[in-house]
Amino acid sequence: MQIQVGIITISDRASRGQYDDLGGPALRKAAQTNGWKVLVENLVPDDKRDIQRAIREQIAKGCELVLTTGGTGVALRDVTPEAVHEIAIRELPGFGEVMRSESMKITKNAILSRNLAVVVEKSLVICLPGKPSGAVECLGFVVGAIPHCIEVLQEVPTSC
Ligand code: MTE
Repeated sequence: MQIQVGIITISDRASRGQYDDLGGPALRKAAQTNGWKVLVENLVPDDKRDIQRAIREQIAKGCELVLTTGGTGVALRDVTPEAVHEIAIRELPGFGEVMRSESMKITKNAILSRNLAVVVEKSLVICLPGKPSGAVECLGFVVGAIPHCIEVLQEVPTSC
């Protein structure tokens, strides 16, 4: 089953054109390397409603997996976790735990990311740090659990 993916870059400055969105393309490359099909990519400001709308629209377009990058940090403008918690039916805490613990081997700033994974409708939404390399690193740490998670959420007959 080829996983259908949506990518959302969350950044005030990139959405205002003040700097290039490098995170989105980095995640697109990682998704394609994983053999996934990237259906849609969006660039939105650090605004809860914009984030929620982009996630809902991507799911409506058939994305079983939505990857966001940015807005997981400690700055007041970082609202990605709050935005997804409002629309999620549950959080999958193991994703955030592993992303932070593995990232601690790379940067002591890893614990400044409130990165997480949640279920919205029947899709898996993984919120990654904004730094392109950080987003790809964190995706790599949890990629092993994604196919089975999506099979279960999409109610595909599974072995477990
Ligand atoms: N995790 C990994 N693997 N690599 C990184 O470079 N950056 C850290 C942290 N987690 C980083 C990381 C830093 S510096 C911050 S501020 C937080 O992610 C939050 O980043 P965000 O606000 O851009 O989402």
